[in-house]
Amino acid sequence: MHLNRLLSLCVVSLVLNAASGVNPPPPGPPGRPQPPGSAINDPSVLPKQPSVRVEPTRHTPMPSVDPMRPQIGQPLPGLTTDQLNLFLDGLEDFEKVEDVAGGLGPTFNNTSCVSCHSAPVAGGASTTNVVRFGRVTGTTFDALESLGGTLLQSQAILPEAQEFVPTQANVVINRNSTPLFGLGLIDAIPDAAILANVRTVPVDGVLGKAASVTDVVSGKTRIGRFGWKSQQATLLGFAADAYLNEMGVTNRYFPNENAPNGNAVALAHTDMIADPEDAPATGLADFEKVANFMRYLAPAPVAPLTPSAATGQKLFTSMGCALCHVPALSTGPSADPAFNRKPVKLFSDLLLHDMGTLGDGIVQGPAGAREMRTSPLWGLRFSAPYLHDGRALTVDQAIRAHDGEGKVSRDRYIKLTPVQQSQLRDYLLSL
Ligand code: HEC
Ligand code: HEC
Repeated sequence: MHLNRLLSLCVVSLVLNAASGVNPPPPGPPGRPQPPGSAINDPSVLPKQPSVRVEPTRHTPMPSVDPMRPQIGQPLPGLTTDQLNLFLDGLEDFEKVEDVAGGLGPTFNNTSCVSCHSAPVAGGASTTNVVRFGRVTGTTFDALESLGGTLLQSQAILPEAQEFVPTQANVVINRNSTPLFGLGLIDAIPDAAILANVRTVPVDGVLGKAASVTDVVSGKTRIGRFGWKSQQATLLGFAADAYLNEMGVTNRYFPNENAPNGNAVALAHTDMIADPEDAPATGLADFEKVANFMRYLAPAPVAPLTPSAATGQKLFTSMGCALCHVPALSTGPSADPAFNRKPVKLFSDLLLHDMGTLGDGIVQGPAGAREMRTSPLWGLRFSAPYLHDGRALTVDQAIRAHDGEGKVSRDRYIKLTPVQQSQLRDYLLSL
């Protein structure tokens, strides 16, 4: 991390030197008034450089896909050669380290997608958390947007752009990185299939609410399904969002940089690259390539069902876990055979539930402070730590933290014998 940062700083000074060195300093960009008394080498009055986005050089070997022996991190079965190539191209961009000349920063959380999505292979989860903050007064939540909320960017390309949690914030929480296996299938689930699980009459206290969000890609109202609060409806939208908000790389859907703690002057002083940064004249943008990688990334393979896990499967249903962790949804009709009416064994309804004390206190889009998306449980044995802030090191801890709509189910789990509890956990760790 420190090395990356040093390298980034070197690149910044190279960019600045190139702009203010041998040649006479260029005039300010047309239309931008020169602030009185501004120094000639004030970076904020220099024209922004076009981004130089390098192509990744490493070539990932074509994975051998044996449908009988699926491995974690493989592409979906039955893809065409063109789709496999898109998967591999996207994987290279997913692993590519961003630099300042390519648009990294001014504020950012890390320099590549894989830095937070790495375990046990590229596209997985990790122990890395990001921080969100806000301010609650009575029942009102203030996202502190003018101070850079709710997402903190913990790193900066120059000290002037460094963000901090503002002193006004009284809610400061962690969000753990999620695994990305099988997300193309989740992307292909029709809105109606998610809406179908919303209850108007509670069963064991479980209702569920669909997250109506504006999809940044189509501009339409869609049902959110990605992120801890179902805050994004499409994979492409999430990829574009992550480029800006995790790495500071602007693009077609997120064309404006985040001002450090909302400070426009600090942004002007530190943002040297013209926006949008990830916008090649021809071909796919990096966020589109990375979305292709995630689209074609297969779900984690299931483990064989041991006798203990088979007993646990029955308990999973009788405890009411499946009321929210719905074992399977289905993709809609598609001209692409890889996504045409495929079962999606995700163990989630993708709905928001009022989780009581387990809620993270952040209001985000349609999700209230206590509302969280039912976590998909597929691939659970690869994705520890658990829960939105990674507080649960074990599955047992994760279940015991359920509250609100999950309380009835949690209390049933607590009343099981230790042997039954471990049978249920064996089942969860086979998914
Ligand atoms: C600094 C760490 C970090 C980096 C860098 C990062 N992510 Fe994430 N990612 C997270 C966290 C944390 C979450 C959960 C966010 C939330 O819901 O609040 C997440 C969630 C996601 C999700 C939603 C998954 C789901 O289950 O719904 C997608 C998709 C995703 N990231 C893609 C990417 C892509 C693509 C990149 C690179 C452009 C990227 N991420 C870079 C930390 C990171
Ligand atoms: C009311 C809906 C609901 C019910 C019922 C429910 N869960 Fe959950 N579950 C959730 C939500 C929402 C989360 C995410 C909460 C968070 O992290 O803030 C979650 C998270 C989890 C996690 C952690 C997953 C991860 O990747 O972090 C596990 C494990 C889990 N549930 C197992 C169970 C089991 C086992 C049962 C039955 C005893 C159960 N749940 C019942 C809604 C529910």
